[in-house]
Parts: sequence; C-alpha cells; structure tokens
Amino acid sequence: KTGFFTHDPGFTSTSSCESAITFIDGEKGELRHRGYAIKDIAEQSSFPEVAFLLIEGELPTPSELRAFDLALKSESMVHEKLITFFQGFKSDAHPMAIMVGVVGALSAFYPDSMNIFDHAQRRTSAIRLVAKMPTIAAISYKTAVGEPVVYPDHSLAFAENFLHMMFATPCAPYKVNPVHAKALETILVLHADHEQNASTSTVRIASSSQANPFACIAAGIASLWGPSHGGANEAVLCMLDEIGTPDRIPLFLDKAKDKSDPFRLMGFGHRVYKNHDPRATLMRGICEQVLASVDTSRTPELELARALEQQALQDEYFAKRKLYPNVDFYSGIVLRAIGIPRNMFTVVFAVARTVGWVAQWNESFLDREQRISRPRQLYVGMPAREFVPLDARD
Ligand code: SDX
Repeated sequence: KTGFFTHDPGFTSTSSCESAITFIDGEKGELRHRGYAIKDIAEQSSFPEVAFLLIEGELPTPSELRAFDLALKSESMVHEKLITFFQGFKSDAHPMAIMVGVVGALSAFYPDSMNIFDHAQRRTSAIRLVAKMPTIAAISYKTAVGEPVVYPDHSLAFAENFLHMMFATPCAPYKVNPVHAKALETILVLHADHEQNASTSTVRIASSSQANPFACIAAGIASLWGPSHGGANEAVLCMLDEIGTPDRIPLFLDKAKDKSDPFRLMGFGHRVYKNHDPRATLMRGICEQVLASVDTSRTPELELARALEQQALQDEYFAKRKLYPNVDFYSGIVLRAIGIPRNMFTVVFAVARTVGWVAQWNESFLDREQRISRPRQLYVGMPAREFVPLDARD
C-alpha cells in the first residue's frame, strides 16, 4: 500500500477544490474521510491513526501505526532555542497569537525539510508539524500561566501527552484523567479535517505560491482564529458568560435574530450543513459522558448551554433556517469541563486541524500544473476617469 507521499491518484486538479481526502453531504449531514464514516472513525480510531489515514490515504496496519506513532514521538520536541521565542510574548498574549508566530518561525529551525518538491522532505514536514503542534500549544499555555515548560513524554499517547504537557508541573507526578484524555482525543479526531473550509483554503492558497510548509500552516492558524470559524468554540463560552442566567436567554435569541445587530448565536449554524453537523451529534454524546464525570454545579455555564440549546431548537427563527448546534457548540463545553482554559480552545482546534492542513497541503502537489491560486473578482468600482491634480481639487 502506498500513501499520497508516493501514490499519485492520477488526477490533475483543474481547480483547487479537487480533493480525495474528505467528503461532506451538507443536506444529509454526512462526513467521510477517505471513504470512512466519521462515526466509525471517531468511535474506533486513535488520533495518530486518523492522521495516517488522512495523510497516507489508507487505514494503517498495526505495524504501520506503530512506526507512524514512533515517527511522531521522535519529532515531538521543539528546538531548544525556539523555547526562548516564547519569552518575547507579554504574559497576557493570546495563545493563538503565539501559535501564529512560533509556527511560522519553524521555517527558520528546520531548513532540511523545506524542499516542497521532494516527497521525503514533504513527509518530514508533515510529521514535524503534526508532532510539534501539541508541544508548541502546551508551551504557549505554560508561558501564559508562568509555569515551567513540561517536555513530551514518549510513554504517553498523543492526547494524554498533550494534557500532561499542559497540566503537569515539576513539583508532583501528574496522572492524566482517562475520561478527559478520551474526550480530548475525540475532539481532535472530529476536528482533524473538514474539506475546503476557510483555514484549509487559506493553507492551499499559500501553498500555491510555493510558500514553505511552516508558513502555510501559520497562515491556516491565523485564518482559523476568527470567531466565525475556529474561534467559535471560545466565543460560545464568552456568549454564555454574557447571557449569565437562563432567564436572559430570550433576550439573546432576539439579538441573534435582529439583522441590525452583528450578534450571532455562537455555535449555531454552518456554511455547509443545512441539517445536523454529524460531528455535533458525536460531540454531544462526549459532552454528556464528560458532564457525568464532573460536578456541573461548579460549572453553571454547562447547565446554561443545555437550556440555550433547548430554547433555540424550539424557536421558529432557528428551526425555519435549520440553524442547529455545530461541532463548536459542544466542543467548547467539553474543553471547559476537562479544565482547558477558553483561550486555548481554538489552539486545540488548530492542533487537530494541522492534520487536515498538511494532508491537503501535500495533496495540492499532486496537481501537476501546481498553478498559483488567483481568485477572480467582479469589479464594481468607478469607470475609467481623468486624474485631477492636487491643486485642482477643492
Ligand atoms: C466552523 O466551513 C467549515 O467546515 C467550518 C468548520 C470546520 O470544521 O472547519 O465546520 C468549523 O467554522 C463551524 C462554524 C462555527 N461558527 C459559529 O458557530 C459562528 C456562528 N455561526 C454563524 O456565524 C454562521 O452560521 C456561519 C458563519 C457558520 C454560517 O453563516 P452563513 O453561511 O451565512 O449561514 P446561512 O447562509 O446558513 O444563514 C442563513 C440564515 C441567515 O439569515 P437570513 O438571511 O435567512 O434571514 O441564518 C442566519 C443568517 O443570518 N444565521 C444566523 C446564524 N447563522 C446563520 N442567525 C443567528 N445566529 C447564527 N449563528
């Protein structure tokens, strides 16, 4: 079996939207990766297994998965000099600002995997990015809270290691809660790839100019940060804060319907899914499992979220427009419940989506023409007219 790094499916992409990685049917609420249904993948695959599937094109055999997991672990540390880069940020810097800066800077540290026309170097860059993102994310968090960096632990699985790097300290052994690790792994799997969304399209456009892989992924991180896209999970919690108590929900539902008000119900609606988001359905199940394991009286916003969901689903405006909770509505609630601070929610999304970004970045090189992306425009400005010198303007 060969993967995309050696296997050429034979199509020459005549448009940037030709892809063999993810299929979405927005009307039916279907999502498949390389032909496999997201429900089966989310319930049976580890995140490294999904990463292999998206990047290589096939589910790995046990020996392929072991080798891939080893490759990820061998690349999980970052260059020690990179750690000083984090010291340059103010302590209140948003972790996504740090991620954009640090990931772009990787191109200054790993020049040996920058030849984008070399299969082996492309694969090395893909492995490096998937492996280093959780480490960079955890260091961003440690920088923000002023704690010492915790290095990757190769004895831990991907999601466990991420939580360990975030919450362990040198003072005492830290045991990762298995319910939290499983919930985080499912969130990573459900966010791994999603066809030509805004951030993935950003990566493909950057790649078409032959920018280096680290710069392309930094561009994807910047695009994901927006509250209409990956920033929605953090925006859901901020919205719940603003609503405060269940009696204020009708006020916010009215705000969301008011066209003169820019407020939108965060975590609701989707560009493509015009029925349910299959990831949201799976995420809701994870949410219930995690909430059963935490004392929700200590997290009132979780109860508020349930009340908001019920009232919105019964509201004619939302029902008529088929505005249902999307994956971000529940993922923010689960991340909050497992102790991840909200300014890290979109960072978690970026760690997961790096797999889809590198898989689609690599796939774009199978387009033999590899032409630069050049979106067209409809010009609606002024017609041609004579220039007016400055002294003739009143
Ligand atoms: C992600 O593309 C992807 O795949 C993205 C993503 C991924 O995995 O990469 O799935 C991740 O980005 C999920 C979406 C996260 N964003 C949010 O939760 C932010 C809140 N949602 C909205 O901003 C909105 O729903 C969008 C941006 C997601 C979609 O916007 P669209 O395409 O304009 O929505 P639409 O065409 O379905 O809107 C239909 C109507 C419009 O009103 P009318 O003109 O018919 O009167 O519904 C309204 C919209 O104004 N509407 C909302 C609404 N979403 C749409 N009204 C209030 N609250 C909302 N959330």
